[in-house]
Order: sequence, then C-alpha cells, then structure tokens
Amino acid sequence: MSITDVTTAAPATAAGPKAHTVGMVDDVPMGEGRTFVVAGEQVAVFRLRNGSLHATQAACPHAGGPLADGLSDVNVLVCPLHQYAYRWSDGASTNGGSPIRMYPVRERDGYLVVEV
Ligand code: FES
Repeated sequence: MSITDVTTAAPATAAGPKAHTVGMVDDVPMGEGRTFVVAGEQVAVFRLRNGSLHATQAACPHAGGPLADGLSDVNVLVCPLHQYAYRWSDGASTNGGSPIRMYPVRERDGYLVVEV
C-alpha cells in the first residue's frame, strides 16, 4: 500500500470542505484503490472499472483494515481483513458494521480532486 501526502489545496470558495488536488487520475490503476493523506486525513480513492471514482476513509471502522486494498465492484467495497462490505452509494455496511465516511471526489483535467 502506498500513501501519498498531499499538501496543496485549491483556494477555499465557501465554508466547509475544501477541494484538494491529490494527483493524476492515472495514479490510481483501474479497478484499484490508493491511499492519500489529504488535509491530515487518510483517504482511500478508488477508480472502478466502470470509470467511476469513490473516496472514503482509509481505515476500516471495524478494526482499521486498509480499505484501499479491499476488493470492490460498482456497488460495494469489501474490507480485506474481515470482509465487511460497504455500499458506495452511502457508505453503509451491508453486513452489520459501522458506516464508512465518504468524500466527494471528481476528475478535473486529468487530476483527482477530493473534498475534505
Ligand atoms: S478491519 Fe475491516 S472488516 Fe475488520
């Protein structure tokens, strides 16, 4: 697992979360996740095979498993340690765990932008 520390942020446009450019979209291989440190928080960014992007807390709420190393499809992310599954749509666990925190993420001109 590689973790990239991100120190640059776009200027704040409003109160609340700020948009941070964390790297190039190609930094995250298709179908995989990578962990970035964004504004002091570890965030796992996923680039699914259907082209969609998702970002969540990097540590699983169950026991701290590395969510960026989990398996995913277009609907859920499965933690690699104990196989708790989380829906991409809202971060809720599908098998009884605590929800994961989701972050807005998008592509802008080939760059990954995460709001934290
Ligand atoms: S640490 Fe993720 S399911 Fe246990």
